[in-house]
Amino acid sequence: MRRRARRQARPQDSFGKRAQKEGYAARSVYKLQEIDRRVRLLRRGMRVLDLGAAPGSWTQYAAEQVGREGKVLGVDLQPAGVSLPPQACFDQLDITTATAASLGGPEAFEVVLSDMAPRTSGMRHRDQFLSFELYVRALEIAEQTLVAGGTFVGKIFQGGEFEQARDATRARFRTVRIIKPEASRNESYEVFLVGLDRLPTPGATSSA
Ligand SMILES: C[S@@+](CC[C@H](N)C(=O)[O-])C[C@H]1O[C@@H](n2cnc3c(N)ncnc32)[C@H](O)[C@@H]1O
Repeated sequence: MRRRARRQARPQDSFGKRAQKEGYAARSVYKLQEIDRRVRLLRRGMRVLDLGAAPGSWTQYAAEQVGREGKVLGVDLQPAGVSLPPQACFDQLDITTATAASLGGPEAFEVVLSDMAPRTSGMRHRDQFLSFELYVRALEIAEQTLVAGGTFVGKIFQGGEFEQARDATRARFRTVRIIKPEASRNESYEVFLVGLDRLPTPGATSSA
């Protein structure tokens, strides 16, 4: 069978051009923008942790939304690829070995984001499993650093362990939504799980 010589032009390709024009480090920014619009995620003055943040478009967008009164900490294995405003900073580290204390500790953030993705091998099941592991690590960090009532957004490749990830998120948040933003590439099997209203940790004493 002959393979099609050329793929159809996708409207999605315009996200890259738009990001360049608007000064964002990556087209991924429009995924966060859509999630923000749909669940009213980011507000002035918030403290945000952004895991898997390089080259930096989510950090840029979050910093704009929280303003000078807020704070955004971006973390990645790679350095940031853009300069950031004063309310944002960037640490180069591995989330699988970093401790929650080194990221800010208990109740340090109102929002934890994770756009982390493994280096893909093309072996679908392996990539899904690596994505699941990063998701679970991000959820653990959210559990250890979010305020009660806080929000978690985490990327995961759909597949084998997806339901386990969703159930683990449901156990920790009052509401969980599954969002596949328009800016996710058509061929991508990534989705975002959004945990709204973090439940208090059982046994923890509340200061509220
Ligand atoms: C899709 S990119 C993130 C794009 C970013 N949100 C943006 O808008 O610019 C995924 C990132 O996850 C990071 N990552 C993967 N494993 C990681 C780990 N163990 N610790 C920290 N970052 C990791 C990769 O280095 C990569 O930069």
